[in-house]
Amino acid sequence: MIIERQEDVTTAVLAEMHRTPDPRTKEILACFVRHLHAFIREVRLTEREFQEAVGQVVALGQHTTPSHHEVMLISGALGVSNLVCLLNNGANGTRPTQANNLGPFYRAGSPRVANGGSLLRSPTPGEALFFRGWVRDPDDRPVAGAEVDVWHSSPVGRYENQDATQAEMNLRGKFTTEADGSFAFRTVKPAGYPVPTDGPTGVLLRAQRRHNMRPAHLHFLIHKPGFKTIASQVYSNDDPYLETDSQFGVTRALIGDYVRHVDAPAPAADIRGAWYSLEHTFALEPGESWLPKPPITAKVEATG
Ligand SMILES: [Fe+2]
Repeated sequence: MIIERQEDVTTAVLAEMHRTPDPRTKEILACFVRHLHAFIREVRLTEREFQEAVGQVVALGQHTTPSHHEVMLISGALGVSNLVCLLNNGANGTRPTQANNLGPFYRAGSPRVANGGSLLRSPTPGEALFFRGWVRDPDDRPVAGAEVDVWHSSPVGRYENQDATQAEMNLRGKFTTEADGSFAFRTVKPAGYPVPTDGPTGVLLRAQRRHNMRPAHLHFLIHKPGFKTIASQVYSNDDPYLETDSQFGVTRALIGDYVRHVDAPAPAADIRGAWYSLEHTFALEPGESWLPKPPITAKVEATG
């Protein structure tokens, strides 16, 4: 159609939707165009602001590498990742859930570890953490044979993919739940960490005068045919950033009870000083069993 007034642009774009054969694609595209045009009108986006926005979208791609996913990072910083997660879990967003966003640091192919084994693949100083988890079905029965991927940051707040000083796949492992639905491992207590700010996520945080910290947490990805796959994160209850997570991930259901033991006998003979224990139960829901595409595939290269 020939455009006569600014309002006609929206009508013209929506009029092109009728050729879209897939109904869900058509629904999403039409709704996206309506909201996008309404947003532009509401803020009266200027030409300079549009140019800036286009530049930021280009930079999102340019900052995404095999070892860093800037688009996932800004999705979290805008609350989109956890909104999508919470809408699609917990009885479609009506109840608390053990699900949480996958985050930008999941890698596929982490090494299989026997239950009770260690996640350390290179020397990683820090206080020991002994974790035991249980996977349960909606009737509170154990789920045996579930695959559980685990990954987390080091005690100085770095994932191995960001840190050339850590061994390949350090602080990552894959477990299979036992007949009682349990799995267990030994590791070191992770630290909270700053998310990278050298890309558009940093531009956003600085514009809003926000900090870039995440509270300490362990990541999980739990997968078994017959159940909806969930990613989860269990946050450290002593972390100062629980209320202001820069990725908006912390939910009440996922604040873990990390217990620090000072004088108690440790579960391993080599422990000197304080150590932590953590127990957590993950409830699965019926649904689609699928594995997400890993946001990253490699470690950073060592430099210097
Ligand atoms: Fe994380």
